[in-house]
Amino acid sequence: MNDSPYLCRGFEPLRTEYSDLELSIEGEIPRELNGTYYRIGPSPQFPPRGNYNPLQGDGMMHAFNLRDGRVLYRNRWVRTEQWKLEHEAGRALFGTSGIPADSDPSVAGMRTNGVANTNLVWHGGKMLALEEGHAPIEIDPESLETIGAWNFANRLPRNMTAHPKIDPRTGEMIFFANFPSGRINGDVELYFANASGKITRSQIIHGPFAALIHDFAITEDFIVVFFCPVTVSIKRAIAGGPPIAWEPDYGTQVAVLRRDCEDEVRWFSGAASMAWHSMNAFDQGDRIVVDVCPQQTAVFPRADGSANDARRTAQFLARWTFNWGRPGAFYAERLSESICEYPRIDERYLSRPYRYGFVASMGGPGTQDIFHRGIGRFDHERREMKVYAAGSNCAVAEPVFAAQTLDALEGEGYVLTNIFDEARGASDLAIFEAEKVEQGPIARAHLEHRVPVGFHGIWRPRS
Ligand SMILES: [Fe+2]
Repeated sequence: MNDSPYLCRGFEPLRTEYSDLELSIEGEIPRELNGTYYRIGPSPQFPPRGNYNPLQGDGMMHAFNLRDGRVLYRNRWVRTEQWKLEHEAGRALFGTSGIPADSDPSVAGMRTNGVANTNLVWHGGKMLALEEGHAPIEIDPESLETIGAWNFANRLPRNMTAHPKIDPRTGEMIFFANFPSGRINGDVELYFANASGKITRSQIIHGPFAALIHDFAITEDFIVVFFCPVTVSIKRAIAGGPPIAWEPDYGTQVAVLRRDCEDEVRWFSGAASMAWHSMNAFDQGDRIVVDVCPQQTAVFPRADGSANDARRTAQFLARWTFNWGRPGAFYAERLSESICEYPRIDERYLSRPYRYGFVASMGGPGTQDIFHRGIGRFDHERREMKVYAAGSNCAVAEPVFAAQTLDALEGEGYVLTNIFDEARGASDLAIFEAEKVEQGPIARAHLEHRVPVGFHGIWRPRS
């Protein structure tokens, strides 16, 4: 039996697929909110084998289709190769822990197209489900049926980050692959896809060590890749150590390069930290400003297997500033004392100076609570975080911003998230006015089942 905390309460897998459920509405859904709010996260099809790692649980998508004040809901697993083999077998075959012995001998060593459970992106006319160890999987945005793996017409050799960045002005999508050759070393490959989704060029960065790199940042002119000291080592795992470990002696090493790749990569370093996600980044004269939600210590054990101080894993919003003309130490400053993760913005301002960020807050790593219980809005101009507390029964997911109109001012619009109510054993789509997040949802669409607390989501307006 598996007693992972990531399989119960708000994380308990959903094992039913629903089509076009009309949800009951509390409050009023703004009429101008026309489009689909998509979420994705792990929901293992069968009870997992061995120790469960949610990063390797089968991806399930949820779509809330908003039109004229009504909400229709649909969910589907991504039909990955692993999902299909397990579906035929009627049980789990692939371990999630990374330990080969946790998989069924019939699939030992099999290379598959992954679990597609981390994020979604809409680009070049395609909806892609992403998970950083593999190529994306294309999804039909209406039916949520799986179309199949997409390797950018053979221009993506292997895997792709789950956090690509789309320049709102040009439509260019910049993304990276960690370990692009399949060898676990410090290599990261950057790819540039034009607005039609065609990869036009790529560029390799040779990092100082093999790091777990989940996200990165772009500005109008620069790309910033963080090598935080969370190392990956197969050799260490074979010797019985942790495959992923916290090695703070490396410090945080950051690669900064021009988007036109015309100069050498310049390297910057800072105190050891783990930044899972960036909020945004922008240019300020010859400086590059990057906002992230780092932990002082990662959640992973040290290389010798010993545990870290869990209290230091709490995440806080911080600003990292890089002086392009003076590589070396970068400047780090904490911006808020409110715990926060899953930072999002009004994405029309991605890579540009911006004022507002939206976060999941209260709870999470470094606290006594595995779930986030609040939604926050950070105002960079006032340096102020305003938080809505959903209540100790309620687990919130990453907030997603939807602009009121295409030409609305920054932050003028709505924030959408899922709130799982443990008392009800079910989830809501909750809609906030983005300028008054702290006042709580203006509307909720009620499901009668849970949307397992997952990873990321997107808003796709109906054009
Ligand atoms: Fe992520």
